[in-house]
Amino acid sequence: MSKFITFEGPEGAGKSTQLQLLADYFQEKGYNACFTREPGGTDIGDQIRAALHDVNNTAMHAITEILLYSASRAQLVAEVIKPRLQQGAVVVCDRYADSTFAYQGYGRQLNLATLQAITRFATQGLKPDLTIYFDLPVEVGLSRKQQANQTGEGELNRMDRQTVEFYRRVRRGYLAMARAEPARWLVIDARQPIQTTQEIVRRHVEKMLAQSHSVRQKQEP
Ligand code: TMP
Repeated sequence: MSKFITFEGPEGAGKSTQLQLLADYFQEKGYNACFTREPGGTDIGDQIRAALHDVNNTAMHAITEILLYSASRAQLVAEVIKPRLQQGAVVVCDRYADSTFAYQGYGRQLNLATLQAITRFATQGLKPDLTIYFDLPVEVGLSRKQQANQTGEGELNRMDRQTVEFYRRVRRGYLAMARAEPARWLVIDARQPIQTTQEIVRRHVEKMLAQSHSVRQKQEP
């Protein structure tokens, strides 16, 4: 079955809730699946995540930031994602390289060609088969995130302290990437109810898995 699926989206879009619901569904179905996240997902990656998210690290340079995200990704690809794909699992990752293009590329306005070269090196060229983007107007996302923080459901990290214009660039970046590669991206309006959104996710994922199954059957003698 071996498919690599990534979830992308802004703060407050409900991405992690959707990932958890898909994990429950895969477990019910008995699929060979692996759910992970970025930055983090490994012991080394979690240590890098702590440095990246520490609000006291105000001195972090944009180049340091991209290299740390990439270092965490390199470890995750080598230690978890590639081995699990080789075992035939469906790997679902909460954020991946498109976060770097959106946040460091479009948001911080670092050179996209350089980011692509660093990313190819860090990921050993591994790209997702499907990327699901949970789209939300910037103001809606930020107010959801703030509410979650006030009720103690979420914590604000270093990347949550950017300007509204930064998040607008991030969203424009995501939408541009989705337009450029429509076969890989599924864009979902994240203002819909959680269950409606989850049904769209499941339908799309099942369709992709069924297609790859029928392709494999055709190839088999
Ligand atoms: P999250 O775990 O709540 O999604 O937060 C991760 C934060 O890190 C989020 O603000 C997006 C940011 N990020 C980047 O800026 N670049 C990256 O490459 C990744 C993976 C995340």
